[in-house]
Amino acid sequence: MTSVPTIKFNNGYTCPVLGLGTWKSQPGEVTQAVKDAIDVGYRHIDCAHIYQNEKEVGQALSQKIAEGVVQRGDLFITSKLWCTFHRPDLVEPAVRKSLQDLQLEYLDLYLIHWPEGFKEGGDFFPRDASGKLIPSHIDHLDIWKAMEQLVNKGLVRSIGLSNFNKRQIERIFAAATIKPAVLQIEVHPYLNQNLLLEYCRSINVAVTAYSPLGSPDRSDTKPGKPLLMDDPSLKSVADKYGKSPAQVLIRYAIDRGLIVIPKSVNKTRISQNFNVFDFHLNSEDMQHLAALECNGRTCTLGDEEHPDYPFHDEY
Ligand SMILES: NC(=O)c1ccc[n+]([C@@H]2O[C@H](COP(=O)([O-])OP(=O)(O)OC[C@H]3O[C@@H](n4cnc5c(N)ncnc54)[C@H](OP(=O)(O)O)[C@@H]3O)[C@@H](O)[C@H]2O)c1
Repeated sequence: MTSVPTIKFNNGYTCPVLGLGTWKSQPGEVTQAVKDAIDVGYRHIDCAHIYQNEKEVGQALSQKIAEGVVQRGDLFITSKLWCTFHRPDLVEPAVRKSLQDLQLEYLDLYLIHWPEGFKEGGDFFPRDASGKLIPSHIDHLDIWKAMEQLVNKGLVRSIGLSNFNKRQIERIFAAATIKPAVLQIEVHPYLNQNLLLEYCRSINVAVTAYSPLGSPDRSDTKPGKPLLMDDPSLKSVADKYGKSPAQVLIRYAIDRGLIVIPKSVNKTRISQNFNVFDFHLNSEDMQHLAALECNGRTCTLGDEEHPDYPFHDEY
């Protein structure tokens, strides 16, 4: 079985460069998807409390461990702190809930999911009467201190950020006792993120590319808006290598030195997405794909007025 290359973090831990995404994977299908992925050779699963399927992911993990197919130490499991749990006293209970659902004693990586905090309470997207998301103003440095405690308590091995901009990362980096190991952001040929990637390289923070296939199953995909995977230039590169557009996009991320987490709940596509370690894109084709850049961000929380909205800055 192919074993996936790993990237070494700034804290010495390693992470397989290819993982399975689980956002939008329905509770009724994600258990089988994770089991199929582990059987194919995936050892890295990207989860989050907000995906509301961690229990079902946990069932797959515990079954595969019980069957002896994998041991806990072979797996790399990520989860994320949702925006309504930024208050420092809510951080440890939040990770404990994910650990319980995933049936794990520790996480390999825990990320602050978004820089924006929302009003604490039972509603994941609390809105005012006009429909606007209600912010909660917790200083990022205070959340980070609570994240560091999770490492000190052995609940998580590495901590990191997701969807933070350079200014927000810099502030945490300057104050941190435990530096962020990872930044997870949207990256694909329509949104190459060159400047943010360069910054992360300069401070030795690994980058995970999310929505690497352009997230075609997003609920707010606009009719008429071109889908990355249908792009004719991408298709021509894929044909040249005898690979699918998805495989080329995954290889593109890996050849840029990124960790990549395509989502699928379909066994054939889970397997296809893993079959990317027998080719490399040459530099001409890498440039060809990079030239598709169109600032084509697909993922925001739609809260541009939030004081911590990350995407007003250039990067
Ligand atoms: N940190 C964050 O804020 C954040 C935000 C977005 C995503 N993420 C993470 O990144 C993961 C991936 O991003 P994503 O889910 O937005 O989208 P994605 O991985 O770019 O695309 C997933 C879509 O592509 C389809 N697909 C998968 N493999 C395919 C193939 N070989 N050929 C054709 N279609 C294929 C999937 O359908 P099937 O399932 O039917 O195969 C699904 O519709 C998420 O699941 C999540 O874990 C994190």
